[in-house]
Amino acid sequence: MNPLNELIEFLQFPSVSADNQFKPHVEECADWLLAKFKKMGLHAQKFPTAGHSIVLASNEQKPNRKTVLIYGHYDVQPPDPLDLWDAPPFEPVVRGDRIYGRGSSDNKGQILAHILGVEMALKERGDLPVNVIFLVEGEEEIGSPNLAGFLEENKKTLQADVVALSDTGMVAAGIPTFTYGLRGILCLEIRLRGPSADLHSGSFGGSVANPAIVLSRLLSKLHDEAGHIAIPGFYDRVQPPSNWERELWAKLPFTEKEWLETTGSPKLSGEAGYTFLEQVWARPTAEVNGLGSGYQGEGSKTIVPSKAIAKLSFRLVPDQDPDELRFLITDFLREKCPDNVEIEIVVQHGGKPYLVRPGSKFGKAAQRALIKTFDQPVAFIREGGSVPITQTFKDLLGMDSLLLGLGFPDSKVHSPNENFALGNFHAGIRLNQYLLDEIAEAS
Ligand code: BES
Ligand code: MN
Repeated sequence: MNPLNELIEFLQFPSVSADNQFKPHVEECADWLLAKFKKMGLHAQKFPTAGHSIVLASNEQKPNRKTVLIYGHYDVQPPDPLDLWDAPPFEPVVRGDRIYGRGSSDNKGQILAHILGVEMALKERGDLPVNVIFLVEGEEEIGSPNLAGFLEENKKTLQADVVALSDTGMVAAGIPTFTYGLRGILCLEIRLRGPSADLHSGSFGGSVANPAIVLSRLLSKLHDEAGHIAIPGFYDRVQPPSNWERELWAKLPFTEKEWLETTGSPKLSGEAGYTFLEQVWARPTAEVNGLGSGYQGEGSKTIVPSKAIAKLSFRLVPDQDPDELRFLITDFLREKCPDNVEIEIVVQHGGKPYLVRPGSKFGKAAQRALIKTFDQPVAFIREGGSVPITQTFKDLLGMDSLLLGLGFPDSKVHSPNENFALGNFHAGIRLNQYLLDEIAEAS
């Protein structure tokens, strides 16, 4: 089968990890990967977890060569809102040089480029210059809750010299991009309950608290007027970017105008005193990802809602630690919440930020592979997104991660009409062949 058809097959599984309704499809997707690895002649196994399965695959591990662990995820974000997709999210279509479908960039297209790169190298030479371990999980989009435990339990089999992953983006088409930093994250849900059931807002409104209003007031306390997060102590561990980073960032081909166009927002905003790149790469945020209360249907309905919920996520930067901040944040929210509603806070998941020195021997090896592939100087960036397991690889196994993203700024990850550039898919396959050689020779 050609690479495009394999990608189309892979994209057809609605492997949405966040919603249990999709559980059987998540498993089918893992099985598809397992079969693919076996067809390539790798030793492949599927490991069930308390959530979704982990797929591992490896060639013969020889002692006299380097070992690279290639990480990716086969789960995807929920496809909603469905009505904004031009074609159904799990019926991939090709238009121009792009393939459209949920997971096309994040992360199926990118992990498949790794897999097919290794497959090509195997076909051409019968063997690889390095030991390869593929670790493809099904829970990245929900914070990898079972992966750290799996790493703990399988330290010996998973020990590698370096990790490689493509789960980030390129600054622009044709510009090879080396990502050396990611933000961390902490996700939680606030649930407020006022009256025990929705009430007639004429009969009772005014005499009891409306949870929607209480929640809005509470959320408004997260930031001050200048866009700083108003939780005391929140910034204590925030490290400013280094001078060498500022110098590199200033050379990047990003303009406010393009950033505005990509977002489709009427205006750039955010924390005062920082450029938009600093805001996204080097400053933490507090976001509302979802908000709900009361009647959402057509027309009006005169009630005092019983409940109001908000889903929040905080993006974190080095050296902030989600395990420490969760208490700071939940204490703040509880303290600011009045006692005319009941508050419940559910902390969902967290992941540490990641930052690595780009000039290590493997970093340089990856940069050589990028240059061979794209024939352009490498851009060095951080990303605002999170791949929570990267710092865990470092903490548990001492392994650095090479983040070699292939997404585009307009790939619409997590959004309707997510897409992946096919040119980049093929470039990614080549990149992975070079990468194996460069890692083998790294010194
Ligand atoms: N591939 C993304 C991370 C990413 C997004 C990197 C954009 C660079 C640019 C990853 O799959 C992802 O979305 N992660 C989640 C993690 C979270 C749910 C724990 C994220 O960042 O929201
Ligand atoms: Mn991803």
